[in-house]
Amino acid sequence: SRVKDILETDSKTAVGKTVSVCGWARTVRSAGKGSLAFVELNDGSCQASLQVVCSAQDTTNFDQLVGAGGVGSSHRFVGTLVAPQRAEQAIELKADIVEVLGTVDPKEYPLSKTGNKSAGHSVEFLREQAHLRARTNLIACVARVRNACAFAIHDFFRLQGFQYVHTPIITASDCEGAGEMMAVTTMLGKAEENKGKLPTVTAELAKKYALDDPNTKLKEGDVDYTKDFFSKPAFLTVSGQLNVETYACALSDVYTFGPTFRAENSHTSRHLAEFWMVEPELCFASLKDDIDLAEDFIKYCTQYVLKNCAADIDYFEKHTEEGLRDRLLNVVDTPFKRLSYTEAIEILNKPEHLKTEDGSARFEEHPAWGIDLGSEHERYLCEKVFKGPVVLTDYPADIKAFYMRQNELDKEGRLTVQAMDILVPRIGELVGGSAREERLGLLEKRITDMNLKPEDFSWYCDLRRFGTVPHAGFGLGFDRFVMFVTGIANIRDVIPFPRYPGVCAF
Ligand code: 4AD
Ligand code: MG
Repeated sequence: SRVKDILETDSKTAVGKTVSVCGWARTVRSAGKGSLAFVELNDGSCQASLQVVCSAQDTTNFDQLVGAGGVGSSHRFVGTLVAPQRAEQAIELKADIVEVLGTVDPKEYPLSKTGNKSAGHSVEFLREQAHLRARTNLIACVARVRNACAFAIHDFFRLQGFQYVHTPIITASDCEGAGEMMAVTTMLGKAEENKGKLPTVTAELAKKYALDDPNTKLKEGDVDYTKDFFSKPAFLTVSGQLNVETYACALSDVYTFGPTFRAENSHTSRHLAEFWMVEPELCFASLKDDIDLAEDFIKYCTQYVLKNCAADIDYFEKHTEEGLRDRLLNVVDTPFKRLSYTEAIEILNKPEHLKTEDGSARFEEHPAWGIDLGSEHERYLCEKVFKGPVVLTDYPADIKAFYMRQNELDKEGRLTVQAMDILVPRIGELVGGSAREERLGLLEKRITDMNLKPEDFSWYCDLRRFGTVPHAGFGLGFDRFVMFVTGIANIRDVIPFPRYPGVCAF
């Protein structure tokens, strides 16, 4: 049996049943050999532990249990469910047999009893124990909520008739055009022989490449990708969007959900070098359809967690964010505030927002029209001005990617694109999306205006050349969403193995 199933069974039905249950000891209290021992057994199926009562007289292998090292040791118990002595839980297990599966040396085991039970260890310490930290309540609660969120995503899109498409991890295109891609280098030949030496371009080859292709950027001394596995530079994807658009322009409504990679040198609590993204793409759809879908989606997944992870949310309320449940209920019940980037800039420039009460500037960067809003502006808007999620639309074209649909010039003659970002309290940007430029001429012009190579995007332009359709989509940062529903302050604690500048533990 799992601990969760035992604790969730109605106690009247459960009492008297014989069960076999396995797990790790969160605590072992005993007065020593020849007496009683109380084990709090946790198997990760739920936040609570099952109290197991063992006695020298009635439990086979009692001495091994007492000598197993306590916190962190692993066991199988067979026994009878009984009504507890103290009414903290509805049921406890009276063990007939204990089988010690694994002992621990308490002097070496890095997690303490308090660390196991609550968030007694600092999150920084736990990050150094990446292989053991899932045994703490904090990280186990996150893992269960993360699992529930992943199911909620597939559930939502299946109910809406979207098809799940697997986009590649290895790619040749830089979707966001930010130049933050991680290169994939594989080497032909024997790995051992080539270890540490990437093939480089010789002076002779540089001449030949320049003759073959006047646009080539390969110079003497560069890594020679033509000798590499794909015969051209390959990277880890920053977004599945461009690939998923091809399937949207055939299957209509689709989504992709997988890991994405960015070589951003960002040491913040909201950035990872490897993170997960959910990217739906809607066909025959406008920016408004895209925003409506994103709002429904966030509400559905939030509601799903409230319903299916109630005990974990209780834990987070106690240990990470007071009032978490109310904040989430509010997200589910309240329409998201929608306004344009230009309106947001006007609001930020009102004297009461621009200056703090003592007259000093509130923002490090002045919120002038045209800037890429920083998290200070984003968080101020959703935390202080609107007190809830905010959708900003129609950003300046200059700060957005090439594929976004262009608007008519505004009254001031400025070019904006049909982009949307969803900003949420505590985090800032949770979603980034847009209507896609479906007009071939405008797209081609934008590609050249942005100094991108047209030949790299000819396949993408084909989608506009042959049966183009209005379409739109967005990307939701999955790890940021897990932060949003758990109240966890740092993104490094919501993903099992965080990767960020300088850190890639096993
Ligand atoms: O705004 P972004 O860059 O949008 C795209 O990649 C589009 N191609 C998506 C699309 O339209 N299909 O990223 C989308 C979201 C952000 O809003 C943020 O939540 C998350 O991905 N994100 C990150 N999360 C963690 N660490 C990082 N380094 C992130 N960069 C972006
Ligand atoms: Mg963005």
